[in-house]
Amino acid sequence: MKINGKDARSIRVTSSQNVEIIDQIQLPHRYATVSLYTVEDAARAIREMWVRGAPLIGVTAAYGVALGLKADPSDAMLERAYTLLLSTRPTAVNLRWALDRTMVAVRSLPESDRCEAAYAFASALAEEDVVTNSALGDHGLTVLEALWLRRQAEGAERLNILTHCNAGWLATVDWGTALAPVYKAFDSGIPVHVWVDETRPRNQGAALTACELGWHGVPHTVIPDNTGGHLMQHGMVDVVIVGADRVTRTGDTCNKIGTYLKALAASDNAVPFYVALPGSTVDWSIRDGLREIVIETRDPREVTHIRGENSAGDVVAVKLTPKDSAAANYGFDVTPARLVSGFITERGVCAASEKGLLSLFPQEAA
Ligand code: MRU
Repeated sequence: MKINGKDARSIRVTSSQNVEIIDQIQLPHRYATVSLYTVEDAARAIREMWVRGAPLIGVTAAYGVALGLKADPSDAMLERAYTLLLSTRPTAVNLRWALDRTMVAVRSLPESDRCEAAYAFASALAEEDVVTNSALGDHGLTVLEALWLRRQAEGAERLNILTHCNAGWLATVDWGTALAPVYKAFDSGIPVHVWVDETRPRNQGAALTACELGWHGVPHTVIPDNTGGHLMQHGMVDVVIVGADRVTRTGDTCNKIGTYLKALAASDNAVPFYVALPGSTVDWSIRDGLREIVIETRDPREVTHIRGENSAGDVVAVKLTPKDSAAANYGFDVTPARLVSGFITERGVCAASEKGLLSLFPQEAA
């Protein structure tokens, strides 16, 4: 995608083999990149959410292994890097997926070849992410085209899409998942408008989704998280598209906290609710999303405080709650498959069920 007309990606390797990321904590107030030099830097960037979003977490972790092997190509470092990076965030399955694949690619090599192979593998993962998301966007575009034909015939002037959190290119290497179909629809001339859930407590919608839609010129409106149901009751949402952090083989979908409530409201108002995901987000080893997915809990301070820019242009955190009130900060929730209208993947669109997923990923049947 582009920022001010210039090609941009969320992660890249510099000529000195450091890894450069966009510091997402500073958005939308400042655009700054930061270099990661060590495996510890990569782990901190994931844990503290300088980078976030399931696919980007996976790619950053793969580069993290390469950074570790640059310092020390031993077996001990390989194991240490794997364990450290895997411990950073528990819910997005792309982290384990990317780390496991990286281990397979480098573990059996002689120490002298490991570092180069790890960089090459991480870069291949990054390229694969871009191709995957672009294909996913093409399949999602067919869904939006069909919806727009229908809405246009009914006299609608724009196609209203609601999304939650940030599942755009800032959550991946490029294109995004939920936003890839939106960008493709916008580029093909469909008059899209996006309702952007602010996504408390980290505000990935208000800060990141709004930012990247704005960079691309896509019309959008930021709404408090509790507005979507009202909009749906009044026919102001044509489709909901969200990303996912982990999907079970039966189609239960774990995504940013608050997604479940949007799915309930969509179901009650007959609004199609799609989940856009790459195959790497399916955890084929589990069936029951409610019982088997570890839900990340984060620092309550993310709930009791909010960050923003003051009138002097400084980014500050201010307290929202009484001094002694407790706060709970669950990062994700699980939307049962029955509330999902369909999955948009790089291989096509399918029903949110084991049968639907296996129709696109038959190699996972065993
Ligand atoms: O906590 P985050 O910001 O890493 O959570 C991200 C989300 O929940 C996204 O909606 C989801 O990962 C899809 S990312 C393409």
